[in-house]
Amino acid sequence: MTVTKGLEGIVATTSSVSSIIDGVLTYRGYDIDDLAENASYEEVVYLLWNGKLPNREELNGLLKDLSDNASIPQQVVDLLRSFPKEANSMAALRSAVSALALFDAEAHDFDIDTNKRIAIRLQAKLPTIVAAFARIRQGLEPVAPKAGAKVAENFLYMLTGKEPDAVAIEALDKALVLHADHELNASTFAARVTVATLSDMYSGVTSAIGALRGPLHGGANEAVMAMLEDIGSMENVEAYVQDKLDKKEKIMGFGHRVYKNGDPRAKHLQKMSRELGKLTGDMKWYEMSIQIEDIVTGQKGLKPNVDFYSASVYTALEIPRDLFTPIFAISRVSGWTAHILEQYENNRLIRPRAEYVGPTNQKVGPIEQRK
Ligand code: ACO
Repeated sequence: MTVTKGLEGIVATTSSVSSIIDGVLTYRGYDIDDLAENASYEEVVYLLWNGKLPNREELNGLLKDLSDNASIPQQVVDLLRSFPKEANSMAALRSAVSALALFDAEAHDFDIDTNKRIAIRLQAKLPTIVAAFARIRQGLEPVAPKAGAKVAENFLYMLTGKEPDAVAIEALDKALVLHADHELNASTFAARVTVATLSDMYSGVTSAIGALRGPLHGGANEAVMAMLEDIGSMENVEAYVQDKLDKKEKIMGFGHRVYKNGDPRAKHLQKMSRELGKLTGDMKWYEMSIQIEDIVTGQKGLKPNVDFYSASVYTALEIPRDLFTPIFAISRVSGWTAHILEQYENNRLIRPRAEYVGPTNQKVGPIEQRK
């Protein structure tokens, strides 16, 4: 047996949802740079699910479906109220999404049309759950989804209870486009492993949320902001980063399993971070991030990944730090569900092997004689 630690370089499936070839990320063959500049998040969702960009009528249909399905069952709101106020928001999201299945009569049906309807429900309801929990833990009432609003606008509206401004909507929309899918990343793989047992879509997405939470994956965006806050100001950057590098500790938001010459999404987020910093008049986090990048790239050759500048982008949008990873989930659920649909279409159980390295020839002795 040859063990490939972390499955690095292993091609575990074919997929036509997204690709990373020579450092270029595409969704269904469209370059992420093109999509980031020219497509809305809902157009990308349609693309991921259907393999084509929507025409006007198809897009309007999806917008209506998402809007019609954005409310969450009262029982799920009550469940969110029952969670500790200090609960981790990804743990709250994971538990609430798992609970959603209990209130969906179709949750265990397996035909393609049902699963497409469930994908719509999940995409529509995740932002509502995240916003509702964020308000409940502050002692505020959840805000009902705004009819007809797109995902980015609706999320900001439900979070704050106020009409968000156009710049914030546009920035969040672009961030959602950039996070929507990413080939066989850890959370997508977790989703595919789960549904490859012919388990249901809610189980697949619940698994994926659990995998996304970790700081080596989606949780890195929160860890980046924690680091920036820890550093505090420009004059501390060099000593802080140098100390970490000397101790061989990881700098969150840098490095990637697949991209060794830079993550194509990072430049868009860097630009957004700079522009939002200028607009808000607070360039501190952006400037600190640039300095960190100079040091880490200069010394280690490691480039920022999608999570690095998203931290300062979300902070400029006044989003609390522990909602960064849930926002990643709000977007990535489109990719997860696209991959789940693809897995069901041509399924085979995913069951690799492990090389056994434990003790052998053990014998069960009487309990009194055991140490
Ligand atoms: N800071 C410092 N050193 C690093 C970093 C980093 N962020 N990333 C990798 N390295 C070093 C490792 O210490 C290791 O050095 P060594 O060979 O001297 O031991 C070498 O680079 C290879 O690193 P691995 O962890 O083996 O690389 P792997 O492909 O397994 O990991 C990962 C990729 C998990 C993304 C890694 O770069 C990392 O931990 N980065 C920080 C966390 C992060 O930003 N995660 C988000 C990734 S993007 C996403 O999931 C949305």
